[in-house]
Amino acid sequence: MPLSLSEGKVIRPGYHRELDELRDLQENGRQWLQSYQAQQAKETGINSLKIGFNNVFGYYIEVTRANLKNTPPHFTRKQTLANAERFVTGELKEFEEKILTAQGKIAAIEREIVNGLCSQVLKDATALHETASGIASLDALYSMSAIASLPGYIIPEVNSEEEIHIKDGRHPVVEKLTGNAFIPNDTLLDRDENQLIILTGPNMAGKSTYIRQTALLVIMAQTGGAVPAAEARIGMVDKIFTRIGAHDEISKGQSTFMVEMTEAAGILNNLSERSLVVLDEIGRGTSTYDGLSLAWAVAEFLQQRKVRTLFATHFHELTALAEEYPGVKNYNVSVKEWDDRIIFLHKIIPGGSDQSYGIYVAKLAGIPKEAVSRAGAILAKLELHGSLQETIRHGGKSTERQMAIFEKENKEARRYEEIGRALEETDIDSLTPLEALNKLQQLKRIAEKNGKSSPVTS
Ligand SMILES: Nc1ncnc2c1ncn2[C@@H]1O[C@H](COP(=O)(O)OP(=O)(O)OP(=O)(O)O)[C@@H](O)[C@H]1O
Ligand SMILES: [Mg+2]
Repeated sequence: MPLSLSEGKVIRPGYHRELDELRDLQENGRQWLQSYQAQQAKETGINSLKIGFNNVFGYYIEVTRANLKNTPPHFTRKQTLANAERFVTGELKEFEEKILTAQGKIAAIEREIVNGLCSQVLKDATALHETASGIASLDALYSMSAIASLPGYIIPEVNSEEEIHIKDGRHPVVEKLTGNAFIPNDTLLDRDENQLIILTGPNMAGKSTYIRQTALLVIMAQTGGAVPAAEARIGMVDKIFTRIGAHDEISKGQSTFMVEMTEAAGILNNLSERSLVVLDEIGRGTSTYDGLSLAWAVAEFLQQRKVRTLFATHFHELTALAEEYPGVKNYNVSVKEWDDRIIFLHKIIPGGSDQSYGIYVAKLAGIPKEAVSRAGAILAKLELHGSLQETIRHGGKSTERQMAIFEKENKEARRYEEIGRALEETDIDSLTPLEALNKLQQLKRIAEKNGKSSPVTS
């Protein structure tokens, strides 16, 4: 299928007779030439007669000197060579004319047909829109009813409570691909005891599938459709916010991490009490300490606002939040170690996990053996150095340094606020020149308080 008119072949064969003939001529030109050559050879008895083409004379019939006596009168001489003569005929000229102009004619006819159709569509635009919208509604309603009649789909209860309760929910798309092998999971979210779910667990376990499944089921339920679950009660959601995966927008001046943070900022600045937040990793695109600190702070922010949140992460340190805050619950996706293999059970169970099996998954993905075993050795060394969780909870060098930067920035911001207030309170019209000078000196003193206001670079 061509994507644009200029590619040609936009009109189906059988619609326009002349177009079909021209295309046929283009496609079967070589065949016509062969049969014309055979026919001329037969009629004249010159078996060596050949048809050729050059840019100066176009198509010609070439007859060797020895056979010249047999050339019929309708052969018109065009060119003389050492051993042969070249001729044209009326039929050959006509063929040449047609084939050389065919491409241009085809393009012109196609353009004319398409333009004609466009103006016809424009003329009936309103009626077409109405019909399209009617068909779209019908399609949506039909699809929803077809899905509702599938086994394993139920009509959910959508209410104004705050709880999202799904029993044996399934991801409608992943389930299609995995068939009977799909493992159903429950979801319980509210704005009280189960407000922020920290979901940890190995790579490939099913975290992303689970959190997206919950968001999808909420959307399906709120559109009035059936959902793939055994039971579902959905406390209405006003907006669903998601942050998923890593990508950049280099043509818009945004790096990978900048995109990640912009998306996170969009969530934190726009959510409401009724929202549902689905975070698939936060803070992966920067250094471990920075990323973990941000993930931790984002989780705390969501916890304080009591927004229903599913947070899938490989920062196992975040599971410590459940000890500090009511409403934060840890879940993980279970796996079974068997011989030296890992079996993914895809079952969401209560509790945190402290394993990612990332190196095992890298091996499954085909990372060379050498690199896999080296990664194993490095991991073992790193693990000897204690957990990041302790560092965060009890302070660490990197954290202290970054905190010092924020402290300095905060002081500066407070100073400028003070100057702003002093200016606002000043009534310039009632000031004497001396008072004005004094005021200026006072403002300068504020600006210089705590040292010069140089930019923060350390
Ligand atoms: N409940 C399930 N039942 C059956 N298969 C599942 C289930 N959940 C996930 N899977 C399968 O496991 C694959 C990996 O799942 P998913 O991407 O959700 O893992 P993940 O935990 O997010 O991994 P990562 O940490 O690497 O992102 C899916 O592509 C799907 O084929
Ligand atoms: Mg994932």
